[in-house]
Amino acid sequence: MAPGAALTWELVDGVAVVTFDLKGEPVNKISEAVKQDVLATFEALEQDGAVRGVAFFSGKPDNFIAGADIEEFVKLTTAAEAERLSAAGQELLEHVAHFPKPVAVGIHGACLGGGLEFALACGYRVASDHPKTQLGLPEVQLGILPGAGGCQRLPRLIGARAALDIILAGKVERAQKAYRLGIVDELVHPSILRDVTIAAAQRMAAGWRPRRKRPGGFMAWLLDGNPLGRRVVFRAARKLTLAQTRANYPAPLAALDAVEHGLKHGMAEGLKREAQLFGQLAVTDVSRKLVQIFFATTALKKDFGIPNPPPPATVHRLGVVGAGFMGAGIAGTAIAQAEVDVRIKDADLPRVAKGLAAAREILDDRLRRRRITKYEHARLVALLSGSDAYSGFGRAELVIEAMFEELQVKQQVLREVEATTPEATVFASNTSTIPIHRIAEAAARPEQVIGMHFFSPVARMPLLEVIPSQHTAPAVVSTAVAFGRRMGKTAIVVRDSPGFWINRILTPYMNEAGHLLVEGAAIEEIDRLMVEFGFPVGPITLLDEVGMDVGEKVVGVMHEAFGERFAPVPAFAGMVKSGRLGRKAGKGFYKYAGGKKRGVDPAVYELVGTHPNGGPRPAEVIQRLILVMLNEAARAVGEGIVRTPRDGDVGAIFGFGFPPFRGGPLRHADDLGAARIVAELERLAERHGARFAPCEVLRDQAQQASKFYR
Ligand code: 3HC
Repeated sequence: MAPGAALTWELVDGVAVVTFDLKGEPVNKISEAVKQDVLATFEALEQDGAVRGVAFFSGKPDNFIAGADIEEFVKLTTAAEAERLSAAGQELLEHVAHFPKPVAVGIHGACLGGGLEFALACGYRVASDHPKTQLGLPEVQLGILPGAGGCQRLPRLIGARAALDIILAGKVERAQKAYRLGIVDELVHPSILRDVTIAAAQRMAAGWRPRRKRPGGFMAWLLDGNPLGRRVVFRAARKLTLAQTRANYPAPLAALDAVEHGLKHGMAEGLKREAQLFGQLAVTDVSRKLVQIFFATTALKKDFGIPNPPPPATVHRLGVVGAGFMGAGIAGTAIAQAEVDVRIKDADLPRVAKGLAAAREILDDRLRRRRITKYEHARLVALLSGSDAYSGFGRAELVIEAMFEELQVKQQVLREVEATTPEATVFASNTSTIPIHRIAEAAARPEQVIGMHFFSPVARMPLLEVIPSQHTAPAVVSTAVAFGRRMGKTAIVVRDSPGFWINRILTPYMNEAGHLLVEGAAIEEIDRLMVEFGFPVGPITLLDEVGMDVGEKVVGVMHEAFGERFAPVPAFAGMVKSGRLGRKAGKGFYKYAGGKKRGVDPAVYELVGTHPNGGPRPAEVIQRLILVMLNEAARAVGEGIVRTPRDGDVGAIFGFGFPPFRGGPLRHADDLGAARIVAELERLAERHGARFAPCEVLRDQAQQASKFYR
């Protein structure tokens, strides 16, 4: 790209109105060429005597600047190169910060990473109060740190505590919150963003300077304003970061170091340290994996999972059958995210009322967290209604069934829905295991039947499995994927087979935890080892979250479909019988009180018929749990359950928290190497039985030295 291609400007009443619009790209990003363009433009503005101030905008309708060009920095192979890239970015922004004429910036749309760092270097920031306007430093999510001065300028602007809160978690905030924090100086309606920003540049050109008072009063001064208070802040942040990252993610600790160093030794030293650390992080394996996930997720946003997807139907009204926890979660999330009209139906009114209350709670939670205004809340609540009959379903373009995992129940609901809805209505089942073609056997319009498997809790879990049967019409697939996306989910289209992708690979893992327990491993120890491996929770805690009754059903279906390697652990049978269903029952493997998880319930060991005696060595516990999952994942890929390794990895990361820094189960298998996995599985199979026998796919890979990803 030639300099001058991305930035253009015109003079308006003594102010140069600069527009950044990277041609041919959906978002503005800061590449090497853009940096040259910015430098050249600012040089011209400096020399032009008619220019007294600068007002900077994006030419993209809904994006300000998405940050540094990620594709550019992933190509770098050495830390020194990456350090130079960061230092060059810093130098450019130092130039902007010390520009002899005042610079105001008008922000509408995503202002992220290097984009926010640019805005922070400007003298005045105006943001539109539009939901699309989001500001943040998500760098640690990519395994790097804000490397263009962000670790220095943000704490100086809003205080160390507030800045660390954003930088260490890679947070992105809505404009209102950014304004409250003091990141932006003025919040305006999008229609006047341009005028207000130009006016600010003019005022500054006439000698006016914004006066900023850091929010937070005495406490803020005590903790941010003096070295002693700051020490307390940094110590607390370090402790929390260590606990959260468990040394698996180096970026947050490095960012903490960059911020602390800069506040202690001054801006210049801080920038130097920031660039050094950026260089080191940018070439780590963790960063590579996290960037791969970013691109995989981005690619999935446009992928309908079928060749030549027809346009999706627009859903205005959604019917939800089943007012339980899942049904209510689907209803509440559909309203909160997609703003559709939702009618919930269940067998009796008390159940419907309970479901409505649970769905509404999702909207109330958004209001409490100030994600929506009172007015928006009232408008959204009005979209929710319920009934003990199918009244109102006649206008639904999509109906999602969320009843018990019982084939007959689901088929009955399908028949009832078909009788009350138009031909074009899509019927989606939220089954987690039952093949869609089995449910569709009861259908008069099997081409309209599909699976939409949400995860619990629906409002928070980011994955959706979309499962067409062999009869499902392509337009129905498009509609399910598009609606899932409107609900804020990452959707993967998977093959219609028991357990689909997630439960297929999760079941052997959970079962193996049962075997280990029976062999004397302690519950907390199994969970601790998997959390250390990088999962958000261990398998036994996960069983308690999912519910033993649900787990038992899932294993039953899988056992029937795939045979002995999915055989349930007999010792678990007593759990359901004695009502130890998990968190929802207040007791499972762990005890629960007041909604909080307490310690392990020792009585469980008796029920399972074992007592903790150390069990297998920690290394073996990890090996068995992980390899049994990788083996099943490889087998499922061989059967075409997921279309690509990318879908499989994104699914496992978003579906149950497979450690993102390992890139997903299939990338992890590639890293270990098929030959090594096969050898270890064979050894395990000899000692523990055929459930460990390595699958064909891994055997072939071992023989041909091939991988899932080329
Ligand atoms: N670098 C390179 N490409 C980027 C990019 C970036 N920073 N941000 C977005 N893109 C690309 C996407 O890959 C996608 O490419 P494609 O069309 O070829 O598939 C295209 O832009 C459109 O992106 P989305 O589909 O994600 O568009 P949305 O409108 O849904 O979302 C967004 C826009 C919110 C900006 C989202 O793309 C996003 O979150 N981007 C990444 C933001 C980020 O992490 N920034 C930090 C970068 S690192 C940095 O700045 C380092 C600095 O401190 C030195």
